[in-house]
Amino acid sequence: MTARTCLTIVLAAGEGTRMRASRPKVLHTIAGKSLIGHVLAAVGEIGGAVAVVVGPAQGVVVRAADIALPAVEIFVQEERRGTAHAVLAARPALARGPSDVLVVFADTPLITARTLARLRETLASGADIAVLGFRPADASGYGRLIVDPTGALVAIREEKDASPDERRIALCNAGLMALSGRTALAILDRIGDDNAKREFYLTDAVAIAAGMGLATRALETEEDEVRGVNTQAQLAEAEAALQRRLRAAAHEAGVVMVAPDTVHLCADTKFGRDVTVEPYVVFGPGVTIEDGAVIRSFSHLEGARVGPGARVGPFARLRPGARLDADVHIGNFVEIKEARFAAGAKANHLAYIGDASVGAAANIGAGTITCNYDGHDKHRTEIGDGAFIGSNSALVAPVKIGERAYIGSGSVITRDVPADALALGRARQSVKEGWAARLRALLGTGRKPP
Ligand code: UD1
Ligand code: CA
Repeated sequence: MTARTCLTIVLAAGEGTRMRASRPKVLHTIAGKSLIGHVLAAVGEIGGAVAVVVGPAQGVVVRAADIALPAVEIFVQEERRGTAHAVLAARPALARGPSDVLVVFADTPLITARTLARLRETLASGADIAVLGFRPADASGYGRLIVDPTGALVAIREEKDASPDERRIALCNAGLMALSGRTALAILDRIGDDNAKREFYLTDAVAIAAGMGLATRALETEEDEVRGVNTQAQLAEAEAALQRRLRAAAHEAGVVMVAPDTVHLCADTKFGRDVTVEPYVVFGPGVTIEDGAVIRSFSHLEGARVGPGARVGPFARLRPGARLDADVHIGNFVEIKEARFAAGAKANHLAYIGDASVGAAANIGAGTITCNYDGHDKHRTEIGDGAFIGSNSALVAPVKIGERAYIGSGSVITRDVPADALALGRARQSVKEGWAARLRALLGTGRKPP
């Protein structure tokens, strides 16, 4: 027997008006990744051909889809006339005759490859249509699965078209459908728009198939996997569900996280072994935490790599391009951007280090600022191994501080400093003996102070 081929059609052409936002719905993000990015990640895992249906003038959605899964074929649904109409926008791909056709919605981001595979297995075992159902806590807005007394799926009724009795049905349509390639086009071409919204509903495929005597089946899954995102509130609910999933995976991987509900993760956050994450930490996209590192409370990290045994926070900010090697210490109110700290380097308090390299075991004093931006260009600061930057120093880039050099506190450093040197760049202190005593003696006399 030859292996079954698969075409997955991802629908992303809806206007998303209920989001009340100017950006396309499917580009809203959860856990740092767009809704369509999540869907394409799951679709990519099962393999096969992938078609994405977008609306007219949705170049940004096309670009996001291309980045998420480079092999996608794009189809444009010129007019938004419903989910079945959208599927038929991919007619050329359907006409190639795949064994299995999967239809997934780009606004249902938590779907897993495992469930997509279950739908395909249902086709392989003889079904012509398999629909994914679930029992949401609040069914409003979802289509209802109508099952006859023998347990066979006979129709899906959209809420707007449902009778009061049908609305009481708990089993809802998750939006995912698998159709056998043999009959898919014949079914889809029979769908009409005789309904409350005057749209071509994909959901009508079920009643049509049942009427043709074809085998229709419903599978069930958990609500958290198929939450549809139509509103900002549902976006937040999908985010919460995904955060629960990501935190569970982090715990499974051995991350010590005693207040998981306060930790915000991204879909691509990576943890090594024996990592500790204290309460109230936010991970943006692109963060890797290596073995034994500790991320203390109230830290915010994005695009950063934290090396083995390093300590970050509390109240630290690692921005894109922050690279910390082994055992680096980054303390409170330190911001790091595009900068590498070699092993054992420390910046324990109140500093901004941007566009810089910091040598091994170098010490950055409190209040150190790399002045990397001249209003036009960014410039680099290079700090050698073992250098000691005194507190409240301004390093005006481009500038190099040699190995083991000292910078006196409060210096403004504008020229390179050689290895092993001391550099001072501050006003010399002057002391006026007895000045304060003379001032006090004069107070109240009406005369000018000295
Ligand atoms: C749809 C289902 C409903 C199900 C729910 C699950 C239909 C008719 N209804 O309702 O039974 O319970 O999803 O979340 O299928 N789209 C297009 N072109 C269009 C219309 C929609 O590409 O012309 C896309 C949207 O971008 C979206 C998806 O299809 O990704 C679903 O459309 P949406 O309008 O959100 O359908 P729901 O009302 O949520
Ligand atoms: Ca929807």
